[in-house]
Amino acid sequence: MLSEGQKKRKNVKTIAIASGKGGVGKTNVVANLAIALRRLGKNVMVLDADLGLSNIDVLLQLAPKYNIQHVLSGELTLKDIVVEGPIGIKILPASSGIQELTSLDEFQRLKLLEEFDAYDGDLDFLLIDTAAGISENVAFFCIAAQDIVVITSPEPTAITDAYALIKVLFTRYQEKEFRILVNLARSSEEGFEVFRRLSIAAEKFLNISLDYLGHIPLDEYMQKAVRAQRALLEIYPNSIASRQFAEIGLKFSDSKSKVKGTLQFFIGNLLSNNSLRQQV
Ligand SMILES: Nc1ncnc2c1ncn2[C@@H]1O[C@H](COP(=O)(O)OP(=O)(O)OP(=O)(O)O)[C@@H](O)[C@H]1O
Ligand SMILES: [Mg+2]
Repeated sequence: MLSEGQKKRKNVKTIAIASGKGGVGKTNVVANLAIALRRLGKNVMVLDADLGLSNIDVLLQLAPKYNIQHVLSGELTLKDIVVEGPIGIKILPASSGIQELTSLDEFQRLKLLEEFDAYDGDLDFLLIDTAAGISENVAFFCIAAQDIVVITSPEPTAITDAYALIKVLFTRYQEKEFRILVNLARSSEEGFEVFRRLSIAAEKFLNISLDYLGHIPLDEYMQKAVRAQRALLEIYPNSIASRQFAEIGLKFSDSKSKVKGTLQFFIGNLLSNNSLRQQV
């Protein structure tokens, strides 16, 4: 017998956004990509998975009353904590500075499984904004998702950290598919050059080939939008970075899901990953 939630649920594309180095633009990419997809008529939910230090709510001036901690503690369900963001994107807020959430234990992962299974909202995309670094939580959400987008800036330290993240996800968790997005690029040539360097290293040392998702230009309007606590696409839809977000959104909305999955599949992936389970 299917539950009401299972009947309603259709395939959801889950995309984890990670970076290695902090501050390279994950949260802004998630917020703007969510809006770009929404504008294409998709139902989009954002999971703030930066569980120790959340900020998508600050970025979008949301001030949510509840967060994922209330779900993990059993007080509330996902539906209770979901908040409405710009143009109808849905956001599952994290909580700031709660130390115990920086590494979810198995019980908490099971709790998430239950909650996502029971969630009966109509969704096309679930975007996951992960924390900086290569913690178990970051690995957990990357492995769970169908697509992993690795963001780097052109800075050598960011490229090195992006490579380190890819290496860990490949060597420890056998992940082989990564889509590279170069943020803060001064030109499309620079974006591609960063991708080229990263992909040469991945081919040579890991024997995996990376996909190029594209670049987002360094755009002064991005900083203006951040200061105004609004998403760039919302208030400066014609800026150069906004146009690139629209392009990237199109790439995702057009692509057929490689893996057909549901939210349950998303969390099911997490729990069946033995190598990760052994780590916790
Ligand atoms: N394309 C861009 N053009 C100009 N500035 C940008 C761009 N992308 C990001 N920034 C700037 O970089 C800052 C950091 O971005 P963001 O908070 O999205 O990074 P993050 O990777 O989520 O950081 P953290 O690792 O701390 O979660 C933003 O506040 C913004 O000022
Ligand atoms: Mg962030």
